[in-house]
Amino acid sequence: MSETTPKEQWSSRWGFILAASGSAIGLGNIVFFSANAYKYGAGAFYVPYLIALLVVGIPLMILEFGLGYHSREAFPQSLRRFGGKGGEFVGWWAIINATIIVMYYVTILAWVVGMFVGSFGSDLWQLPEAGDTSNPQQDFFFGMTQNWYILAFVGIVWALNVLIVWKGVSSIESVTKFLVPLMWLLMIALIIQGLTFKTGFEGVKLLFTPQFDVMKDAAVWRGAFGQIFFSLSLGFGIMTAYTSRLSRNTDIPSTAMSTSFMNCSFEFIAGIAIFALLFHFAVAPQASTLGMMFWVVPQGIAHSIASLGIAAKIFGILFFFLLLIAGLSSSISLVEALAAAAIDKFGISRKKVVTIIAVVGLLGSAVFAWPALLDGSKTTTIGLTMLDFTDHWTFGYGLMIIGILECLILGWSGAVDKVTDSMNAESRTLQLGKVFGVMIRWIIPAVLIILLGLSLYEELDKGGLYNFDTEVSVDGTKLSAGKLAFFGWLTITTVTALALTLIPGRKKEEV
Ligand code: PHE
Repeated sequence: MSETTPKEQWSSRWGFILAASGSAIGLGNIVFFSANAYKYGAGAFYVPYLIALLVVGIPLMILEFGLGYHSREAFPQSLRRFGGKGGEFVGWWAIINATIIVMYYVTILAWVVGMFVGSFGSDLWQLPEAGDTSNPQQDFFFGMTQNWYILAFVGIVWALNVLIVWKGVSSIESVTKFLVPLMWLLMIALIIQGLTFKTGFEGVKLLFTPQFDVMKDAAVWRGAFGQIFFSLSLGFGIMTAYTSRLSRNTDIPSTAMSTSFMNCSFEFIAGIAIFALLFHFAVAPQASTLGMMFWVVPQGIAHSIASLGIAAKIFGILFFFLLLIAGLSSSISLVEALAAAAIDKFGISRKKVVTIIAVVGLLGSAVFAWPALLDGSKTTTIGLTMLDFTDHWTFGYGLMIIGILECLILGWSGAVDKVTDSMNAESRTLQLGKVFGVMIRWIIPAVLIILLGLSLYEELDKGGLYNFDTEVSVDGTKLSAGKLAFFGWLTITTVTALALTLIPGRKKEEV
């Protein structure tokens, strides 16, 4: 008898909202939002961002919530119910795409642990000498990523993930109940500090002054939609796995909206805190998301330590601690999405599934973190390069491709109407009307297809797929990193998803 029947359940609606928003609030909110906002012209970003939230983010959140709630099964099985084997394949493809993301997400978290440990000392907080172009925070980061102890940090982060999902939603609930409020407290402390800087408001103004001319660029829109997907944890199969264990009589549309609202307000106040800090200390924000997290913001903090002393150092320590817990409450949700899918399909015990996921995940994260492999530049590791290239496909394209396919499958099989009915039957606040079905069937797929088409076109127009021909040399041997990332992503997701779809499940599933 598997442990899945009767299924474990969340103990309360609030516990569930905290866990779902714990998944949504992560590195994406604290640093990637600000980095993207800066990259796409600060004020030019938030209008497309809000449009993306309303047109795609909230409706998809309601759909992914409703799907799990209606079918009581994880993502692949839920999609199979309405889309047959093809649907199940899309579900597994989403889960494998997300697994690649979580592998490097954990690597990034291991680097966060490295910075957190470093934040207690003084090396990380050096300021550059006058006239010196070096960046002590960047040097610290690269020094750390090239050290073997980083693999131990990867192990620690995976161990924490296993520990938290070991008992399923009940252990997730008890941990996130504590972590999510703590994240808010830390964030409020950061924002108060940010706004005490005299010129901090200038940065905030920059963030909120719309610039309409940049919005003609398709890349800004893709950036905004990508950010919404990643930030709300959409296209991962996570929200469906979470609601599949939610008790009846829950008001799904309002729960989905509370989760989205919690996520996006966190993102906005994080943006305010970070822009205020950077602007005050005239640290140039960097277009790179990792650069923002690992050396631009830390340099802003180093400046404030120089002027404010120990209080600012505590702030620096808390910043990395916040990144760590926010990231952890996201990565566990993916482990859970994967575990729930495997449990629901094969009926194997949770502990076995979680152990397998951890071993495979650990290997993947270790590959991204491997310190000995330096690329041609001798300053960064090949893992960092591969992370950038892989992220372009899994995150930039993968999540949106899943968004399109899930809308088409659920929209055109009639599922959306059934799911809507079962949500409406138990919703005391919002009743979803016909418009919802139209959004899922037509508007969202059309918007996403146009965006992806434009992005691909722009990319090819600029001379080819992203970094496709880029080679790096590893100890004199050339490695086609760009091709490896693209074909690696496509093959691993497709082959694994196909295998998982074709292997028979625990019982003959009626479709
Ligand atoms: N929503 C997370 C964030 O903003 C992203 C994420 C989701 C990462 C799920 C891992 C797993 O950081």
